Amino acid sequence: MKTNSMTIKDNELYIGEYKVSDLAKAYKTPLYIYDETQIREKLDIFKNNFKSDKYECLVVYASKAFLAPYICNIVKEYNMGIDSVSLGDLYLLEKASFPHDKIIMHGNNKSVEEIEYAINNNIGYLVIDNIDEIYTIDEVTKRLNKQVRVLIRVNPGIEAHTHAYIKTSLLSSKFGESIFDLSRLEEMLKVAKNNELIKMDGFHAHIGSNINSPQSFVGEVETMTNFIKKIKDDFGYTTKVLNLGGGFGIKYLDEDDDIDIKKMVEVITSSIDKFLLENNMTLDKVMIEPGRSIVGDSGFTVYTVGGIKTTFSGKKYIFVDGGMTDNIRPALYQAKYTVDIANKMKQEKSIPFDIVGKCCESGDIVAKDCMLSDVSKNDFLVAHCTGAYGYSMASNYNGALKSTVIFVRGKEVNMAVKREELSHLTKDHIFNNVKVFDTHSDMLYDLYTKKKSGVENRFNDFHVKQLLNSNVKAGLWTMYSPDDFDLIEACKIAINEIDIKKLPGFEVIYGLEGLRNLKKVEDIDVLYNMGIRHAMLTWNEENIYATGAKADPTHGLKEDGKRLLKRMEDLDMIIDLAHLNEKSFYEALEVTSKNIIYSHGNCKALCDHVRNVTDDQMVALKKVDGLLGLTLANNFVSSNVKDQTLDKFLEHLKHAVSIMGIDNVCFGFDFMDYLSDFPNSNLEEVSNASLVYRIVDGLESIGYSKEDINKICFDNFYKRYKDKIVLRG
Ligand code: LLP
Repeated sequence: MKTNSMTIKDNELYIGEYKVSDLAKAYKTPLYIYDETQIREKLDIFKNNFKSDKYECLVVYASKAFLAPYICNIVKEYNMGIDSVSLGDLYLLEKASFPHDKIIMHGNNKSVEEIEYAINNNIGYLVIDNIDEIYTIDEVTKRLNKQVRVLIRVNPGIEAHTHAYIKTSLLSSKFGESIFDLSRLEEMLKVAKNNELIKMDGFHAHIGSNINSPQSFVGEVETMTNFIKKIKDDFGYTTKVLNLGGGFGIKYLDEDDDIDIKKMVEVITSSIDKFLLENNMTLDKVMIEPGRSIVGDSGFTVYTVGGIKTTFSGKKYIFVDGGMTDNIRPALYQAKYTVDIANKMKQEKSIPFDIVGKCCESGDIVAKDCMLSDVSKNDFLVAHCTGAYGYSMASNYNGALKSTVIFVRGKEVNMAVKREELSHLTKDHIFNNVKVFDTHSDMLYDLYTKKKSGVENRFNDFHVKQLLNSNVKAGLWTMYSPDDFDLIEACKIAINEIDIKKLPGFEVIYGLEGLRNLKKVEDIDVLYNMGIRHAMLTWNEENIYATGAKADPTHGLKEDGKRLLKRMEDLDMIIDLAHLNEKSFYEALEVTSKNIIYSHGNCKALCDHVRNVTDDQMVALKKVDGLLGLTLANNFVSSNVKDQTLDKFLEHLKHAVSIMGIDNVCFGFDFMDYLSDFPNSNLEEVSNASLVYRIVDGLESIGYSKEDINKICFDNFYKRYKDKIVLRG
């Protein structure tokens, strides 16, 4: 079962101008190779023969057979469509810049998110599977006030002669609404009719996959055309578009029947033409969705033989370096493949071997009873016709890495997908569940400013997603005051945006970063009553309470500042000395020594930044059992961009611990990825809350014990201030 570009020279298999064994050596095995010349020939056959002068004919490549940007570009060149079944597919198509209007989306259980994405991105057609789905689409189109073109998938109840798992049109199949239950279809047509945003253009059917007789398609066309006539007669609905799905088979084995795609598509168009003529009907467009027949017999997989075994009973095995993880079809559908030895093409095929993979599964089979001879370790085996549903159904089972995919066209070799790296296997795993209390986040400010600028749902759409994926499980969320605004109103707006139930277990203390907008000392009570339990007297400015880090260093704490500190002390609030200049810092400590923290700052000894603290300040903090929260602002870590690294940050931490001890340090990250004014101001390695695990890993790697890590990350702060938590998810 060789592709058109395969030749044999000197006992070696060639694809295009390349010896397959050389490609295997260069790219390593398992290796998927596609014959691009043949794929293009197939596309030409579809394009040149699926046509009519009565309606537009569109070939839509079924990307589930094999999807990668490389094939999208080829399909794009041929001006064809692509079908998709999930947000994941749509995401890849977007990355591949595939034209939205040529995308068709299927699926029997699309999520609201998928439907929203498809509608927002104006994809060509949404194929509606069922009544429930049309109601969702009805709701989403109205909410987004956006149009969508749709087809309704119907089940025409046709028995295609193929494997039970890939029949899709039995009366009991899960796909589509049955053409024998017109009441459900009538209801769907009504929903579409009553919503001018739903452009209901016609119907879709797909009767199964790997169908090798044109008769099944003739049956489908007959049934579907009679169906659209009935729908017209009974409900007055005129079908403009008919999509007949895919399912054209390929010849996997020598003994399989030949399949004439040209004939199959001609049969389809001529049956439709005849019907339209006889019934005086018209159609605007007819689509088909071939997948396997475009890429299936144009792709093959190369393996290296690792060993040959004859069992005690006499059965012969060839062990290869791939198997069910790169081609699940033998295990799932008992699919059969032809296998050759790429470097020994002329040998006699006289001994039956089972060619099997590396997995701990007896069903891990490449080919059963495959006739070969003279096979030895390090030979390259070629399994033919694996181009459809091979790579696309590959898995990481038993720690397998998905293999390289290359396309060969004459002299050209292009890599379409590179082999997964080991790191792929761990990239989504959580290695530590150490909880982190972030003692400084501008959450309230972000929620307030976004809401004011018209952004709805900021908390859910941004912060929840990020924090659910983060070690940060508690936070001191502050309202920052860089300029003048109504502080009380701003806090109300921000707090109102929070839906803490979206963050199960998350704990929050509310605070204030700077009090330039606190009009008078007494207003602190109003804020306290709203749940605020923390404040810094200034941001970097001088105000009526104190002098900030960037203001006149000879100015310090003000009389109102002293009164305010006393009131905060009475209210048992957390007093945060961050952002004060040194003079105000020490003067504040003369007024009070209760609940003192410096929520976000690093060590001046390592980075001479105006917002960092001197060793003496750390000693003073320690004296009142205060806490220092180390921060990820990159210019607080180092003035030298090269040193703005996680390692340098950990040096700050070690330095702080050396002065203050393990019980008086914590983290106040000050993430700014979400603030439009300072989006890239944190260390690149830990640029947002979802990357905090790297700090925990870092603490471990520099030798902190589990107990000390917990202290720094969470307990030091939590143990002192858990009574100030106002929200718990
Ligand atoms: N259109 C729809 C709506 C489909 O569901 C499918 C395949 C196609 C088109 C493309 O069918 P094709 O032309 O590739 O036969 N994993 C199985 C095949 C599953 C087919 C799923 N749907 C296998 O390896 O045989």
